[in-house]
Amino acid sequence: MRKISFKLGLFFFLFVLGIETVLFVSLYITLVHSRINEEFEQLLARGNNHRDVLEKNYDSSTLEHVTMMESEAVTDVVITDDKGNILYFSDHILPFAKRIIKNEVKNIPHDGMIVQKNWQKESHISTVSPIRVDGKIKGYVYMFQNTASIQNMIYKLKHHFIIVGILSVFLTIITIAFLSRVITIPLIRMKQATEKLSKGDFSVRLQVKGEDELAQLGKSIQTLARDLEYLKKERNEFLASISHELRTPLTYVKGYADIARRPNIKEEEREKYLTIIYEEAEHMQKLVKELFELAKMDQHSFHIHQSSTNLCSFLRKVYEKMHPAFQAKNMSLIYHCDGNITVHIDQKRFEQVMMNLLDNALKYSEQGSTVSIDVRTEKKNIVIIVSDEGRGIPEEDLPHIFERFYRVDKSRSRASGGTGLGLAIAKEIIEAHGGSIYADSIYGKGTKMMITLPKE
Ligand SMILES: Nc1ncnc2c1ncn2[C@@H]1O[C@H](COP(=O)(O)OP(=O)(O)O)[C@@H](O)[C@H]1O
Ligand SMILES: [Mg+2]
Repeated sequence: MRKISFKLGLFFFLFVLGIETVLFVSLYITLVHSRINEEFEQLLARGNNHRDVLEKNYDSSTLEHVTMMESEAVTDVVITDDKGNILYFSDHILPFAKRIIKNEVKNIPHDGMIVQKNWQKESHISTVSPIRVDGKIKGYVYMFQNTASIQNMIYKLKHHFIIVGILSVFLTIITIAFLSRVITIPLIRMKQATEKLSKGDFSVRLQVKGEDELAQLGKSIQTLARDLEYLKKERNEFLASISHELRTPLTYVKGYADIARRPNIKEEEREKYLTIIYEEAEHMQKLVKELFELAKMDQHSFHIHQSSTNLCSFLRKVYEKMHPAFQAKNMSLIYHCDGNITVHIDQKRFEQVMMNLLDNALKYSEQGSTVSIDVRTEKKNIVIIVSDEGRGIPEEDLPHIFERFYRVDKSRSRASGGTGLGLAIAKEIIEAHGGSIYADSIYGKGTKMMITLPKE
Protein backbone atom coordinates (compact mmCIF):
# COMPACT_ATOMS: atom_id res chain seq x y z
CA MET A 1 0.00 0.00 0.00
CA ARG A 2 1.53 3.29 -1.03
CA LYS A 3 -1.48 5.44 -0.19
CA ILE A 4 -0.65 8.37 2.01
CA SER A 5 -3.95 8.10 3.91
CA PHE A 6 -3.07 4.52 4.82
CA LYS A 7 0.43 5.41 5.99
CA LEU A 8 -0.79 8.37 7.98
CA GLY A 9 -3.63 6.34 9.47
CA LEU A 10 -1.38 3.43 10.42
CA PHE A 11 1.10 5.76 12.07
CA PHE A 12 -1.62 7.49 14.11
CA PHE A 13 -3.23 4.17 14.98
CA LEU A 14 -0.04 2.64 16.37
CA PHE A 15 0.62 5.80 18.30
CA VAL A 16 -2.86 6.00 19.82
CA LEU A 17 -2.93 2.26 20.46
CA GLY A 18 0.28 2.57 22.46
CA ILE A 19 -1.15 5.37 24.58
CA GLU A 20 -4.44 3.53 25.08
CA THR A 21 -2.68 0.33 26.17
CA VAL A 22 -0.55 2.10 28.75
CA LEU A 23 -3.59 3.96 30.12
CA PHE A 24 -5.79 0.87 30.24
CA VAL A 25 -3.22 -1.35 31.90
CA SER A 26 -2.34 1.21 34.58
CA LEU A 27 -6.02 1.93 35.23
CA TYR A 28 -6.74 -1.78 35.54
CA ILE A 29 -3.88 -2.40 37.94
CA THR A 30 -4.84 0.52 40.22
CA LEU A 31 -8.47 -0.48 40.22
CA VAL A 32 -7.78 -4.12 41.12
CA HIS A 33 -5.35 -3.06 43.77
CA SER A 34 -7.75 -0.70 45.50
CA ARG A 35 -10.66 -3.13 45.30
CA ILE A 36 -8.60 -5.92 46.90
CA ASN A 37 -7.35 -3.53 49.55
CA GLU A 38 -10.89 -2.61 50.38
CA GLU A 39 -11.78 -6.28 50.88
CA PHE A 40 -8.88 -6.77 53.26
CA GLU A 41 -9.71 -3.63 55.20
CA GLN A 42 -13.34 -4.64 55.56
CA LEU A 43 -12.40 -8.08 56.79
CA LEU A 44 -9.92 -6.65 59.26
CA ALA A 45 -12.44 -4.08 60.50
CA ARG A 46 -15.00 -6.81 61.05
CA GLY A 47 -12.48 -8.87 63.03
CA ASN A 48 -11.53 -5.81 65.10
CA ASN A 49 -15.22 -5.23 65.79
CA HIS A 50 -15.69 -8.70 67.20
CA ARG A 51 -12.49 -8.31 69.17
CA ASP A 52 -13.78 -5.03 70.70
CA VAL A 53 -17.00 -6.71 71.78
CA LEU A 54 -15.08 -9.63 73.26
CA GLU A 55 -12.68 -7.38 75.14
CA LYS A 56 -15.65 -5.80 76.93
CA ASN A 57 -17.37 -9.12 77.83
CA TYR A 58 -15.09 -12.06 77.54
CA ASP A 59 -17.52 -14.82 78.41
CA SER A 60 -18.91 -17.88 76.70
CA SER A 61 -22.29 -16.32 75.81
CA THR A 62 -20.62 -13.45 73.99
CA LEU A 63 -18.27 -15.87 72.27
CA GLU A 64 -21.19 -17.97 71.11
CA HIS A 65 -23.03 -14.89 70.01
CA VAL A 66 -20.13 -13.72 67.83
CA THR A 67 -19.73 -17.16 66.31
CA MET A 68 -23.41 -17.36 65.55
CA MET A 69 -23.40 -13.97 63.84
CA GLU A 70 -20.63 -15.07 61.49
CA SER A 71 -22.34 -18.32 60.56
CA GLU A 72 -25.00 -16.20 58.86
CA ALA A 73 -22.51 -13.97 56.99
CA VAL A 74 -20.25 -14.60 53.97
CA THR A 75 -17.27 -14.26 56.27
CA ASP A 76 -16.25 -16.80 58.89
CA VAL A 77 -14.67 -16.49 62.32
CA VAL A 78 -12.43 -18.69 64.43
CA ILE A 79 -11.61 -17.76 68.02
CA THR A 80 -8.59 -19.26 69.77
CA ASP A 81 -7.10 -18.94 73.20
CA ASP A 82 -3.70 -17.32 73.76
CA LYS A 83 -1.93 -20.59 72.85
CA GLY A 84 -3.73 -20.96 69.55
CA ASN A 85 -6.17 -23.71 70.57
CA ILE A 86 -9.41 -23.32 68.71
CA LEU A 87 -12.31 -22.51 71.03
CA TYR A 88 -15.12 -21.48 68.73
CA PHE A 89 -15.63 -21.48 65.01
CA SER A 90 -18.37 -20.79 62.54
CA ASP A 91 -19.29 -23.17 59.73
CA HIS A 92 -16.92 -25.60 58.06
CA ILE A 93 -13.85 -23.43 58.02
CA LEU A 94 -11.84 -25.80 60.16
CA PRO A 95 -9.35 -27.48 57.78
CA PHE A 96 -8.13 -24.21 56.28
CA ALA A 97 -8.18 -22.45 59.66
CA LYS A 98 -6.09 -25.15 61.27
CA ARG A 99 -3.43 -24.69 58.62
CA ILE A 100 -3.30 -20.94 59.20
CA ILE A 101 -3.41 -21.06 62.97
CA LYS A 102 -0.68 -23.66 63.21
CA ASN A 103 1.73 -21.10 61.79
CA GLU A 104 1.64 -19.22 65.01
CA VAL A 105 2.29 -15.54 64.61
CA LYS A 106 3.95 -13.34 67.13
CA ASN A 107 3.89 -9.64 67.90
CA ILE A 108 0.49 -9.05 66.42
CA PRO A 109 -0.39 -5.34 66.65
CA HIS A 110 -3.57 -4.46 68.47
CA ASP A 111 -5.13 -3.23 65.21
CA GLY A 112 -4.70 -6.68 63.79
CA MET A 113 -2.96 -7.89 60.67
CA ILE A 114 -3.39 -9.91 57.52
CA VAL A 115 -2.25 -13.51 57.76
CA GLN A 116 -3.27 -14.87 54.39
CA LYS A 117 -3.28 -12.44 51.52
CA ASN A 118 -2.85 -14.71 48.50
CA TRP A 119 -6.32 -14.20 47.07
CA GLN A 120 -5.33 -15.59 43.70
CA LYS A 121 -4.28 -19.09 44.79
CA GLU A 122 -5.76 -19.81 48.22
CA SER A 123 -9.37 -20.60 48.96
CA HIS A 124 -9.60 -17.98 51.70
CA ILE A 125 -8.02 -14.75 52.79
CA SER A 126 -7.57 -14.22 56.48
CA THR A 127 -6.87 -11.63 59.20
CA VAL A 128 -6.16 -11.85 62.88
CA SER A 129 -6.97 -9.46 65.78
CA PRO A 130 -5.65 -10.09 69.30
CA ILE A 131 -8.04 -9.97 72.30
CA ARG A 132 -6.37 -8.18 75.17
CA VAL A 133 -7.96 -7.88 78.60
CA ASP A 134 -6.13 -6.00 81.39
CA GLY A 135 -2.94 -5.90 79.35
CA LYS A 136 -2.82 -9.67 78.81
CA ILE A 137 -3.51 -11.59 75.63
CA LYS A 138 -6.67 -13.66 76.14
CA GLY A 139 -6.97 -15.07 72.66
CA TYR A 140 -7.25 -14.27 68.95
CA VAL A 141 -10.08 -13.54 66.53
CA TYR A 142 -9.32 -15.02 63.12
CA MET A 143 -11.46 -13.81 60.23
CA PHE A 144 -11.82 -15.68 56.91
CA GLN A 145 -13.34 -14.76 53.64
CA ASN A 146 -13.79 -17.00 50.63
CA THR A 147 -11.65 -15.78 47.71
CA ALA A 148 -14.10 -17.07 45.11
CA SER A 149 -16.16 -13.90 45.37
CA ILE A 150 -13.05 -11.73 45.00
CA GLN A 151 -11.83 -13.74 42.05
CA ASN A 152 -15.25 -13.47 40.51
CA MET A 153 -15.27 -9.71 40.96
CA ILE A 154 -11.80 -9.36 39.40
CA TYR A 155 -12.84 -11.63 36.57
CA LYS A 156 -15.84 -9.40 35.86
CA LEU A 157 -13.63 -6.33 36.01
CA LYS A 158 -11.22 -7.88 33.52
CA HIS A 159 -14.09 -8.80 31.31
CA HIS A 160 -15.35 -5.22 31.31
CA PHE A 161 -11.92 -3.90 30.53
CA ILE A 162 -11.52 -6.21 27.57
CA ILE A 163 -14.88 -5.18 26.14
CA VAL A 164 -14.19 -1.49 26.63
CA GLY A 165 -10.69 -1.97 25.20
CA ILE A 166 -11.94 -3.66 22.05
CA LEU A 167 -14.60 -1.01 21.69
CA SER A 168 -12.13 1.84 22.01
CA VAL A 169 -9.70 0.24 19.53
CA PHE A 170 -12.59 -0.10 17.15
CA LEU A 171 -13.62 3.54 17.64
CA THR A 172 -10.00 4.61 17.22
CA ILE A 173 -9.77 2.81 13.90
CA ILE A 174 -12.97 4.44 12.65
CA THR A 175 -11.95 7.91 13.81
CA ILE A 176 -8.46 7.65 12.35
CA ALA A 177 -9.66 6.23 9.07
CA PHE A 178 -12.09 9.10 8.81
CA LEU A 179 -9.58 11.77 9.83
CA SER A 180 -6.79 10.56 7.59
CA ARG A 181 -9.17 10.57 4.66
CA VAL A 182 -10.34 14.07 5.48
CA ILE A 183 -6.73 15.24 5.66
CA THR A 184 -5.57 13.51 2.51
CA ILE A 185 -8.54 14.15 0.23
CA PRO A 186 -7.34 17.67 -0.68
CA LEU A 187 -3.84 16.30 -1.31
CA ILE A 188 -5.20 13.63 -3.61
CA ARG A 189 -7.29 16.22 -5.43
CA MET A 190 -4.20 18.37 -5.92
CA LYS A 191 -2.25 15.42 -7.24
CA GLN A 192 -4.99 14.73 -9.76
CA ALA A 193 -5.08 18.41 -10.68
CA THR A 194 -1.35 18.58 -11.37
CA GLU A 195 -1.59 15.39 -13.43
CA LYS A 196 -4.28 17.05 -15.50
CA LEU A 197 -2.09 20.13 -15.84
CA SER A 198 0.86 18.14 -17.09
CA LYS A 199 -1.38 16.56 -19.73
CA GLY A 200 -2.27 20.04 -20.94
CA ASP A 201 -5.74 20.23 -19.45
CA PHE A 202 -5.86 23.60 -17.72
CA SER A 203 -9.49 23.48 -16.62
CA VAL A 204 -8.36 22.71 -13.10
CA ARG A 205 -10.66 23.98 -10.38
CA LEU A 206 -9.83 23.13 -6.79
CA GLN A 207 -12.16 23.88 -3.92
CA VAL A 208 -10.03 25.78 -1.46
CA LYS A 209 -11.38 26.45 2.00
CA GLY A 210 -9.59 28.13 4.85
CA GLU A 211 -6.16 29.68 5.13
CA ASP A 212 -3.91 26.76 6.13
CA GLU A 213 -0.91 25.44 4.21
CA LEU A 214 -3.03 23.00 2.23
CA ALA A 215 -5.37 25.77 1.15
CA GLN A 216 -2.42 27.89 0.12
CA LEU A 217 -0.98 25.03 -1.89
CA GLY A 218 -4.35 24.60 -3.58
CA LYS A 219 -4.47 28.28 -4.42
CA SER A 220 -0.95 28.17 -5.86
CA ILE A 221 -1.88 25.26 -8.08
CA GLN A 222 -4.95 27.10 -9.25
CA THR A 223 -2.91 30.21 -10.04
CA LEU A 224 -0.40 28.06 -11.89
CA ALA A 225 -3.20 26.53 -13.94
CA ARG A 226 -4.57 29.94 -14.80
CA ASP A 227 -1.14 31.26 -15.77
CA LEU A 228 -0.44 28.26 -17.95
CA GLU A 229 -3.80 28.59 -19.61
CA TYR A 230 -3.12 32.25 -20.30
CA LEU A 231 0.34 31.49 -21.70
CA LYS A 232 -1.04 28.83 -23.95
CA LYS A 233 -3.74 31.15 -25.23
CA GLU A 234 -1.23 33.93 -25.78
CA ARG A 235 1.13 31.63 -27.63
CA ASN A 236 -1.64 30.44 -29.91
CA GLU A 237 -2.71 33.97 -30.65
CA PHE A 238 0.87 34.98 -31.31
CA LEU A 239 1.40 32.11 -33.71
CA ALA A 240 -1.85 32.95 -35.44
CA SER A 241 -0.81 36.57 -35.90
CA ILE A 242 2.64 35.61 -37.16
CA SER A 243 1.18 33.38 -39.84
CA HIS A 244 -1.31 36.07 -40.64
CA GLU A 245 1.48 38.66 -40.96
CA LEU A 246 3.51 36.42 -43.25
CA ARG A 247 0.62 35.34 -45.40
CA THR A 248 0.03 38.75 -47.03
CA PRO A 249 3.60 39.44 -48.22
CA LEU A 250 3.93 35.83 -49.38
CA THR A 251 0.76 36.19 -51.44
CA TYR A 252 2.25 39.29 -53.06
CA VAL A 253 5.60 37.62 -53.75
CA LYS A 254 3.93 34.56 -55.24
CA GLY A 255 1.47 36.59 -57.36
CA TYR A 256 4.01 39.05 -58.77
CA ALA A 257 6.61 36.34 -59.37
CA ASP A 258 3.99 34.47 -61.37
CA ILE A 259 3.36 37.53 -63.57
CA ALA A 260 7.04 38.45 -63.85
CA ARG A 261 8.02 35.07 -65.29
CA ARG A 262 5.57 35.32 -68.20
CA PRO A 263 7.58 35.50 -71.44
CA ASN A 264 5.51 38.10 -73.27
CA ILE A 265 5.76 40.81 -70.59
CA LYS A 266 7.40 44.24 -71.11
CA GLU A 267 10.82 44.65 -69.58
CA GLU A 268 9.89 47.75 -67.52
CA GLU A 269 6.81 46.00 -66.11
CA ARG A 270 8.91 43.01 -65.12
CA GLU A 271 11.22 45.42 -63.32
CA LYS A 272 8.27 46.97 -61.47
CA TYR A 273 7.07 43.56 -60.29
CA LEU A 274 10.55 42.50 -59.25
CA THR A 275 10.85 45.70 -57.21
CA ILE A 276 7.63 44.85 -55.39
CA ILE A 277 8.88 41.33 -54.76
CA TYR A 278 12.12 42.75 -53.41
CA GLU A 279 10.27 45.15 -51.08
CA GLU A 280 8.03 42.41 -49.79
CA ALA A 281 11.00 40.19 -49.12
CA GLU A 282 12.65 43.05 -47.29
CA HIS A 283 9.54 43.50 -45.19
CA MET A 284 9.51 39.82 -44.29
CA GLN A 285 13.17 39.98 -43.43
CA LYS A 286 12.49 42.86 -41.04
CA LEU A 287 9.54 41.02 -39.55
CA VAL A 288 11.57 37.88 -38.94
CA LYS A 289 14.42 39.89 -37.43
CA GLU A 290 12.09 41.68 -35.04
CA LEU A 291 10.30 38.47 -34.11
CA PHE A 292 13.62 36.89 -33.32
CA GLU A 293 14.51 39.83 -31.14
CA LEU A 294 11.22 39.54 -29.25
CA ALA A 295 11.71 35.82 -28.82
CA LYS A 296 15.12 36.46 -27.29
CA MET A 297 13.60 38.95 -24.87
CA ASP A 298 10.95 36.44 -23.79
CA GLN A 299 13.61 34.11 -22.53
CA HIS A 300 14.83 34.53 -19.00
CA SER A 301 18.35 34.70 -20.33
CA PHE A 302 17.66 38.14 -21.79
CA HIS A 303 20.36 40.43 -20.45
CA ILE A 304 21.09 44.05 -21.10
CA HIS A 305 24.60 45.35 -20.80
CA GLN A 306 24.30 48.69 -19.08
CA SER A 307 27.08 51.24 -19.00
CA SER A 308 27.37 54.78 -17.69
CA THR A 309 26.37 57.08 -20.50
CA ASN A 310 26.16 60.82 -20.92
CA LEU A 311 22.56 61.11 -22.06
CA CYS A 312 22.93 64.38 -23.99
CA SER A 313 25.82 63.25 -26.14
CA PHE A 314 24.14 59.89 -26.65
CA LEU A 315 20.96 61.57 -27.90
CA ARG A 316 23.01 63.90 -30.10
CA LYS A 317 24.42 60.87 -31.92
CA VAL A 318 20.90 59.51 -32.43
CA TYR A 319 19.78 62.92 -33.65
CA GLU A 320 22.59 63.07 -36.18
CA LYS A 321 21.80 59.61 -37.49
CA MET A 322 18.12 60.38 -38.01
CA HIS A 323 18.42 63.97 -39.18
CA PRO A 324 18.91 63.19 -42.91
CA ALA A 325 15.77 61.08 -43.05
CA PHE A 326 13.73 63.95 -41.65
CA GLN A 327 15.32 66.39 -44.08
CA ALA A 328 14.43 64.09 -46.95
CA LYS A 329 10.76 64.26 -45.97
CA ASN A 330 11.03 68.02 -45.57
CA MET A 331 10.50 67.81 -41.82
CA SER A 332 12.53 69.30 -39.02
CA LEU A 333 13.94 67.39 -36.07
CA ILE A 334 14.99 69.45 -33.07
CA TYR A 335 16.75 68.37 -29.95
CA HIS A 336 17.03 69.83 -26.42
CA CYS A 337 19.27 68.48 -23.72
CA ASP A 338 20.97 70.54 -21.02
CA GLY A 339 23.41 69.69 -18.37
CA ASN A 340 25.39 66.68 -17.49
CA ILE A 341 22.98 63.79 -17.10
CA THR A 342 24.40 60.34 -16.62
CA VAL A 343 22.26 57.26 -17.20
CA HIS A 344 22.95 53.55 -17.05
CA ILE A 345 21.79 52.12 -20.36
CA ASP A 346 22.50 49.45 -22.89
CA GLN A 347 23.53 51.85 -25.63
CA LYS A 348 22.84 49.60 -28.60
CA ARG A 349 19.37 48.63 -27.45
CA PHE A 350 18.48 52.08 -26.23
CA GLU A 351 19.45 53.49 -29.61
CA GLN A 352 17.09 50.95 -31.17
CA VAL A 353 14.27 52.28 -28.97
CA MET A 354 14.97 55.89 -29.93
CA MET A 355 15.13 54.93 -33.61
CA ASN A 356 11.79 53.17 -33.34
CA LEU A 357 10.14 56.21 -31.76
CA LEU A 358 11.67 58.64 -34.26
CA ASP A 359 10.81 56.32 -37.12
CA ASN A 360 7.18 56.33 -35.99
CA ALA A 361 7.18 60.13 -35.62
CA LEU A 362 8.55 60.39 -39.13
CA LYS A 363 6.19 57.84 -40.63
CA TYR A 364 3.01 59.13 -39.03
CA SER A 365 3.60 62.88 -39.65
CA GLU A 366 3.03 65.12 -42.67
CA GLN A 367 5.65 67.14 -44.53
CA GLY A 368 6.67 70.42 -42.97
CA SER A 369 5.90 69.38 -39.38
CA THR A 370 8.36 69.32 -36.53
CA VAL A 371 9.51 66.48 -34.28
CA SER A 372 11.39 67.24 -31.08
CA ILE A 373 13.42 65.33 -28.54
CA ASP A 374 13.37 66.73 -24.99
CA VAL A 375 14.91 65.63 -21.73
CA ARG A 376 13.37 66.50 -18.37
CA THR A 377 14.77 65.65 -14.96
CA GLU A 378 12.34 64.96 -12.15
CA LYS A 379 12.94 64.13 -8.49
CA LYS A 380 13.47 60.44 -8.99
CA ASN A 381 13.33 60.03 -12.76
CA ILE A 382 14.74 61.17 -16.03
CA VAL A 383 12.11 61.57 -18.75
CA ILE A 384 12.89 61.53 -22.47
CA ILE A 385 10.07 62.87 -24.63
CA VAL A 386 9.66 62.44 -28.38
CA SER A 387 6.83 64.63 -29.65
CA ASP A 388 5.43 65.08 -33.13
CA GLU A 389 2.68 67.04 -34.83
CA GLY A 390 1.48 64.09 -36.87
CA ARG A 391 -1.84 62.34 -37.23
CA GLY A 392 -2.06 61.25 -33.61
CA ILE A 393 -3.58 58.08 -32.19
CA PRO A 394 -7.32 57.66 -31.50
CA GLU A 395 -8.14 57.36 -27.83
CA GLU A 396 -9.50 53.84 -28.14
CA ASP A 397 -6.27 52.60 -29.76
CA LEU A 398 -3.92 54.28 -27.33
CA PRO A 399 -3.95 51.50 -24.70
CA HIS A 400 -3.06 48.89 -27.33
CA ILE A 401 -0.20 50.35 -29.35
CA PHE A 402 2.44 48.57 -27.27
CA GLU A 403 0.93 45.18 -28.07
CA ARG A 404 2.58 42.95 -30.63
CA PHE A 405 1.33 43.44 -34.21
CA TYR A 406 -1.03 46.20 -33.16
CA ARG A 407 -1.44 48.91 -35.78
CA VAL A 408 -4.03 51.66 -35.75
CA ASP A 409 -4.58 51.66 -39.46
CA LYS A 410 -4.33 48.09 -40.64
CA SER A 411 -5.12 48.82 -44.28
CA ARG A 412 -2.51 51.50 -44.71
CA SER A 413 0.23 49.71 -42.83
CA ARG A 414 1.47 48.16 -46.05
CA ALA A 415 2.27 51.60 -47.39
CA SER A 416 4.13 52.62 -44.24
CA GLY A 417 5.93 49.27 -44.08
CA GLY A 418 5.35 48.84 -40.35
CA THR A 419 5.33 45.48 -38.68
CA GLY A 420 3.54 46.57 -35.54
CA LEU A 421 6.37 45.18 -33.42
CA GLY A 422 8.45 48.35 -32.97
CA LEU A 423 6.74 49.63 -29.83
CA ALA A 424 6.43 46.13 -28.34
CA ILE A 425 10.19 45.75 -28.63
CA ALA A 426 10.76 49.26 -27.26
CA LYS A 427 8.60 48.48 -24.23
CA GLU A 428 10.48 45.25 -23.46
CA ILE A 429 13.82 47.02 -23.63
CA ILE A 430 12.76 49.98 -21.48
CA GLU A 431 11.26 47.67 -18.86
CA ALA A 432 14.46 45.65 -18.79
CA HIS A 433 16.15 48.93 -17.86
CA GLY A 434 13.74 49.32 -14.94
CA GLY A 435 11.93 52.15 -16.67
CA SER A 436 8.57 52.61 -18.32
CA ILE A 437 7.22 53.94 -21.58
CA TYR A 438 3.98 55.79 -22.02
CA ALA A 439 2.12 57.41 -24.93
CA ASP A 440 0.00 60.54 -24.93
CA SER A 441 -1.79 61.66 -28.04
CA ILE A 442 -4.49 63.93 -29.42
CA TYR A 443 -6.00 62.49 -32.55
CA GLY A 444 -5.25 64.76 -35.50
CA LYS A 445 -2.88 66.97 -33.50
CA GLY A 446 0.17 64.94 -32.53
CA THR A 447 1.73 62.35 -30.26
CA LYS A 448 4.07 62.39 -27.27
CA MET A 449 6.06 59.28 -26.35
CA MET A 450 7.60 59.41 -22.90
CA ILE A 451 10.37 57.21 -21.58
CA THR A 452 10.91 57.29 -17.83
CA LEU A 453 14.20 56.02 -16.46
CA PRO A 454 14.98 55.84 -12.76
CA LYS A 455 17.82 58.11 -11.63
CA GLU A 456 20.92 56.43 -10.31
N1 LIG B 1 4.10 58.87 -33.45
C1 LIG B 1 2.99 58.23 -33.80
N2 LIG B 1 1.95 58.85 -34.38
C2 LIG B 1 0.85 58.19 -34.72
N3 LIG B 1 0.66 56.87 -34.55
C3 LIG B 1 1.66 56.17 -34.00
C4 LIG B 1 2.87 56.81 -33.58
N4 LIG B 1 3.68 55.85 -33.04
C5 LIG B 1 3.01 54.70 -33.14
N5 LIG B 1 1.80 54.86 -33.69
C6 LIG B 1 0.77 53.84 -33.92
O1 LIG B 1 1.11 52.71 -33.17
C7 LIG B 1 1.24 51.56 -33.99
C8 LIG B 1 2.30 50.67 -33.46
O2 LIG B 1 3.57 51.21 -33.61
P1 LIG B 1 4.80 50.30 -33.91
O3 LIG B 1 4.77 49.26 -32.85
O4 LIG B 1 6.02 51.14 -34.01
O5 LIG B 1 4.44 49.58 -35.24
P2 LIG B 1 4.69 50.08 -36.73
O6 LIG B 1 5.35 51.39 -36.67
O7 LIG B 1 5.56 49.01 -37.26
O8 LIG B 1 3.35 50.10 -37.37
C9 LIG B 1 1.53 52.10 -35.34
O9 LIG B 1 1.08 51.24 -36.35
C10 LIG B 1 0.74 53.39 -35.36
O10 LIG B 1 -0.58 53.16 -35.75
MG1 LIG C 1 7.23 51.60 -35.69
